[in-house]
Amino acid sequence: MLAAGLWRTHADPIQLENVILNLSVNARDAMPNGGKLIIETANAHVDDAFADEYQIPAGQYVLLAVTDTGSDMTPEVIAQAFDPFFTTKAVGAGTGLGLSQVFGFVRQSGGHVKLYSEIDFGTSVKVYLPRFYGEAAPAAPKRLPTAALRGQANEVILVVEDEERVRNYSIEALRELGYTVVSAPSGAQALRLIDDGGDFNLLFTDVVMPEMTGRKLAELAVARRPKLKVLFTTGYTRNAAVHNAALEYGTNFLPKPFGIDQLAAKVRSVLDSELPAP
Ligand SMILES: Nc1ncnc2c1ncn2[C@@H]1O[C@H](COP(=O)(O)OP(=O)(O)OP(=O)(O)O)[C@@H](O)[C@H]1O
Ligand SMILES: [Mg+2]
Repeated sequence: MLAAGLWRTHADPIQLENVILNLSVNARDAMPNGGKLIIETANAHVDDAFADEYQIPAGQYVLLAVTDTGSDMTPEVIAQAFDPFFTTKAVGAGTGLGLSQVFGFVRQSGGHVKLYSEIDFGTSVKVYLPRFYGEAAPAAPKRLPTAALRGQANEVILVVEDEERVRNYSIEALRELGYTVVSAPSGAQALRLIDDGGDFNLLFTDVVMPEMTGRKLAELAVARRPKLKVLFTTGYTRNAAVHNAALEYGTNFLPKPFGIDQLAAKVRSVLDSELPAP
């Protein structure tokens, strides 16, 4: 329920939607036998003690809370829940990236996220986003990057990502930016699209995927289409990815989680760049 007289906050609407989706899916998974999912909002005052503890400025925040009546989280799980790739779900069921993406987005927006879980009561995830005092943008509900950072329908991007939610997010964001988007959930299926005659301007691929890594895919794809440009993404930091030899130094790289602005700027710069000499 949206609180009456709710303050406004300034955040990327697509990413915020992704936060609500992530938290709702977690709540659903915690209630295999059914239960209640409550999404609510409120104006919140963060006092000095709370501000100190969570390292955000004291002041006024907009609170978004997603609560379920499902299984609770143990203190051990709470302690690791925001770590990328931490999951208690079966292999293939969860990537462990949901809460780490939520955390990244909320911190980047100047806010804080807190988990509360009680035995036999379920879990409440509280997201605090700073109150925005500026003028509302009148007839522009969705803030898109400037025209210079957008794409055109004749620029075709192949998105390869094994996690469905992340893939759908990228597809939707790139389409909103004006690009034509084709997607595949694995390297093998991406190569099939290319072998079937698909002609793409950019390959935008996850690095860490089962069976074929993004790096191997890029190598095989570029062998077939020497003019294809490549942009990698991963939840690992750039250093970790380079260290793990997943990427070579100097490769085009966009760290996860990314907002539409970062995606727009990176994709545009890669598409506009000169191809390295063969
Ligand atoms: N609402 C919840 N109730 C109980 N446990 C939860 C809840 N939300 C998260 N968790 C625990 O935290 C872990 C990490 O959550 P996170 O969203 O990061 O990953 P995931 O849901 O396992 O995978 P993904 O979101 O990538 O599909 C979960 O595996 C689960 O153990
Ligand atoms: Mg999740």
